[in-house]
Amino acid sequence: MRLVLLGPPGAGKGTQAVELAEEWGIPHISTGDMFRQAVKDETAMGKKAKEYMDKGLLVPDEVVVGLVEERLGFQDAAEGFILDGFPRTIAQADALAGIIHSMGYVLDAVVNIVVPEEILVKRLAGRRVCRNCSATYHIEFNPPKKEGVCDKCGGELYQRDDDKEETIRKRLKEYNEKTSPLVAYYAGKGILRNIDGSESADIVLDNIRKALGR
Ligand code: AP5
Ligand code: MG
Ligand code: ZN
Repeated sequence: MRLVLLGPPGAGKGTQAVELAEEWGIPHISTGDMFRQAVKDETAMGKKAKEYMDKGLLVPDEVVVGLVEERLGFQDAAEGFILDGFPRTIAQADALAGIIHSMGYVLDAVVNIVVPEEILVKRLAGRRVCRNCSATYHIEFNPPKKEGVCDKCGGELYQRDDDKEETIRKRLKEYNEKTSPLVAYYAGKGILRNIDGSESADIVLDNIRKALGR
């Protein structure tokens, strides 16, 4: 399965990708997670990406495309992958088509997770992430057993820098302007599946499986 998860910030791309990747035994590739790791490692790319991420803006296409091209070349992605947060512009989508074509495959499906904006803001404002293993929680919708501590590894939970209200608004605007045109782009290719992402995470997961016939 070669799948793209599309949807605005807070739609639940990461939440769903983690489950599906484990179930199907293929890698979950999140460009946002890769950038956050690069920021943590203080690499040159991380420093560049941080300038954009802190402002709620998209990182330039050439930076992201190079990163994804390299990652999809890894052995673990040969049998399939789940892309989370890539592509986010038409230029990235065209580049992805070229990369997958050169691997000798096609993109099987694009799942578009649809959630109203007021719910997105609530989800992002209450999100907490493990500093150690990146597991994602929500103070209200998916709280950890012990406040501030990761259930899976005992790591410390923190709030992402870009989950401040002002930056959330900018990210949503950036999504509407630059990423939402991908919905029509992939519908035109006949591989788009729209999923109502406002249901609970378990129901959304089930509906994604059904939409993909898995
Ligand atoms: P990225 O990390 O990808 O952020 P994003 O797209 O804004 O998406 P999020 O991770 O915020 O949301 P999500 O859909 O994964 O939701 P989650 O599952 O966590 O990118 C960050 C930045 O990196 C970008 O702004 C940009 O600067 C840069 N970047 C990354 N990729 C790029 C690209 N391709 N091009 C250019 N720049 C790029 O869920 C959110 C919360 O809701 C959690 O608390 C979760 O527990 C909860 N939740 C999830 N599902 C449900 C549910 N069904 N019901 C109730 N709560 C739920
Ligand atoms: Mg995410
Ligand atoms: Zn953890």
